[in-house]
Amino acid sequence: MPHEVRGVVARSKGAQVAIETIVVPDPGPGEALVQVQSCGVCHTDLHYREGGINDEFPFLLGHEAAGVVEAVGDGVTDVAPGDFVILNWRAVCGQCRACLRGRPWYCFATHNAAQKMTLADGTELSPALGIGAFAEKTLVHAGQCTKVNPAASPAAAGLLGCGVMAGLGAAINTGGVTRGDSVAVIGCGGVGDAAIAGARLAGAAKIIAVDIDDRKLEWARGFGATDTVNSRETDPVEAIRELTGGHGADVVVEAIGRPETYEQAFYARDLAGTVVLVGVPTPDMKIELPLLEVFGRGGSLKSSWYGDCLPSRDFPMLVDLYLQGRLDLDGFVSETIGLDEVEEAFGKMERGEVLRSVVNL
Ligand code: APR
Ligand code: ZN
Ligand code: ZN
Repeated sequence: MPHEVRGVVARSKGAQVAIETIVVPDPGPGEALVQVQSCGVCHTDLHYREGGINDEFPFLLGHEAAGVVEAVGDGVTDVAPGDFVILNWRAVCGQCRACLRGRPWYCFATHNAAQKMTLADGTELSPALGIGAFAEKTLVHAGQCTKVNPAASPAAAGLLGCGVMAGLGAAINTGGVTRGDSVAVIGCGGVGDAAIAGARLAGAAKIIAVDIDDRKLEWARGFGATDTVNSRETDPVEAIRELTGGHGADVVVEAIGRPETYEQAFYARDLAGTVVLVGVPTPDMKIELPLLEVFGRGGSLKSSWYGDCLPSRDFPMLVDLYLQGRLDLDGFVSETIGLDEVEEAFGKMERGEVLRSVVNL
């Protein structure tokens, strides 16, 4: 029997989102039906509703979620009804060229549910990032469910499903931050603050937070920034160099996705240092860099997709660190809201008033 639940749908480009009745099929082979408990509001949800991702409207939004497995389809062995899970958008296939080379965190053929969720009139929905979790229940591929310790708060745990994992992973997995490193993070929203928290976890000695908003810099200190730079008032490249003995940081994480801040990251790193781009640019953006500087500075310029995470490896470990009090996931939850407040939450996100608004279901 299909399930009729409430979900937040973006019907057409730019139109405000609204709560609609969603029809969720019972799980087929390899699928799982999940009762969603919490789902964070992420920039990508807003990009979907603005038509910035693709034109496959209507979208069922929401993808940063935790919940409880209600039912599984044939052949599912990794999760079972009653399991507390974080939903991921990297259900690795095990067979693509990345997986076969032992690099599943790059998997190029990730799994999603085969069956479609629909509106009441049968119109097929496109779930955001193959998840669609601003809904009381959602249907995903079982590989999109990562079992974690149920003692964690769903609001905090769910954030590992996207933005917080992206930031933590940008520092730890992509940037390879390790004990004693100097790290600078440009842009201290939820993603940048997670990179700061990741740098602290990994043992960075100096963590420099850069933002144009003093309130964000204050929050960044809470996650582990040892120094802060307001780049509206101070040249961030000079400030980062000054704070690192004149050299620049070992790892600079760009968590905004803009050419000017990428350029700051490029020049603010030490020789042989690493730049990690985790902020997502728009198609019109371009950068121009002297090729001699690209060569002469050595090191590496990397992008971080979803924090280069492997959900099965990273989610349970990070939840355990959270439960031990070593990773402040609760600090990212600025407010909890209802399903009917997603549109308002987009506004707060755009005005920079929150790190994350989280829908509790
Ligand atoms: N210089 C420094 N900081 C800036 C600048 C700038 N020119 N422009 C914006 N910022 C700061 C904002 O003040 C804010 O604190 O960058 C931060 C961006 O944070 P959010 O808007 O909350 O975004 P977040 O959720 O952290 O995501 C950051 O990562 O995954 C991507 O799509 C996401 O591109 C986005 C980025
Ligand atoms: Zn693969
Ligand atoms: Zn997201």
